[in-house]
Amino acid sequence: MQTLLVTGGAGFIGANFVLQARKSQWANVVNLDKLTYASNLQTLAELQDDPNYHFVQGDIGNSELVSNVLEQHQPDAIINFAAESHVDRSILSPQDFIQTNLLGTFQLLEASRLYWQKLSSQRQKQFRFLHVSTDEVYGSLSPTDTPFREDTPYAPNSPYAASKAGSDHLVRAYYHTYGLPTLTTNCSNNYGPCQFPEKLIPLTILNALDGKPLPIYGDGQNVRDWLYVADHCDALYLVLRQGCIGETYNIGGQNEQTNLNVVEKICAVLDDLVSKSGFKHSSLIAFVKDRPGHDQRYAIDCGKIYRDLGWQPKESFDSGLLKTVEWYLSNSAWVDSVRSGAYQNWIKQNYEDRKAA
Ligand code: NAD
Ligand code: DAU
Repeated sequence: MQTLLVTGGAGFIGANFVLQARKSQWANVVNLDKLTYASNLQTLAELQDDPNYHFVQGDIGNSELVSNVLEQHQPDAIINFAAESHVDRSILSPQDFIQTNLLGTFQLLEASRLYWQKLSSQRQKQFRFLHVSTDEVYGSLSPTDTPFREDTPYAPNSPYAASKAGSDHLVRAYYHTYGLPTLTTNCSNNYGPCQFPEKLIPLTILNALDGKPLPIYGDGQNVRDWLYVADHCDALYLVLRQGCIGETYNIGGQNEQTNLNVVEKICAVLDDLVSKSGFKHSSLIAFVKDRPGHDQRYAIDCGKIYRDLGWQPKESFDSGLLKTVEWYLSNSAWVDSVRSGAYQNWIKQNYEDRKAA
């Protein structure tokens, strides 16, 4: 694989993937990103003099632009991270989620199919379209249910999850109908450096550092399966190279935690690293009004990717969380750049009416 088109490579997971791809020389990278509120080009600043990295600002839903990028850069594979990714935003304004996650993925698939059909038969065989999706498409588990497998029926519960489920179905259809060599991954909650602070872990770290309340939806007993982002990126590269076309792979952290537990762990790390006069960050915890339709539990059975490709997560939650907190402590310029007026508006919009439950 020489050239990889990465979409959404200025967001959290995409940027971590691009940095890893260039550092480990997995491939030359062309990064196509619309630069929504969730993106940050500062994350990729170290690549500005890299001749094998190109950035293009644009929308995956703009088929003319995508076709031009494909013709110009002739990628051997595409990895699609581009999405609206925050569940709470999908509840308050679902339109953008349908536009990018569903219609955008459709336009990207269509442009990719037209490009792929014109390749030589050898390049056609080697070409891959990897779609990065989520475990949320499988719906919600009870505490005693077995974890999601690749054959678990889809049951998305939020507009975000439904838009991702729709995109997964389109990817499947492009493989079955046109033979486009697709792969789909369904991953659990990621955490790590450079995550936009609307998501639980970075929001908690930054609010705690500012002495602000740490909002926990409902009773804090909802469970997520946390995966360190670098482990996810390694898994994606492996699927890209060795995954069986037309297949889906579940990727998880083997690390189920209640939200309350996650927040308490972050508080304990901060108590060790920055507390003055014995201040307990957990005193900032505030239980607030629940997320509508809040899925109770996600858990991933990653037996297939382990058996077929030999992947398993390397990072423990304790070590990954420590690295993550340390990253936010050492990158205040990055943090300042993402907490603009638009971010403050979001915090007001999402939390003002929640208050104490
Ligand atoms: P993110 O919100 O941090 O970044 C998304 C990126 O996509 C941003 O840079 C944004 O500018 C770009 N983008 C949005 N709309 C676009 C469009 N129309 N055209 C081009 N670029 C566009 O998201 P993330 O957390 O990095 O997630 C990446 C992917 O992984 C998403 O598809 C998401 O559904 C999936 N996923 C995320 C997680 C997680 O825990 N974060 C877990 C499983 C799966
Ligand atoms: O499971 C994979 C998904 O994980 C990805 O597909 C999504 O893109 C990603 O955003 C994430 O979705 P979640 O909704 O699980 O992540 P979030 O960080 O928003 O919330 C994690 C849990 O914490 C969830 O149960 C809701 C809760 N929560 C979240 C926020 C922002 C709180 O209790 N308080 C909060 O302020």
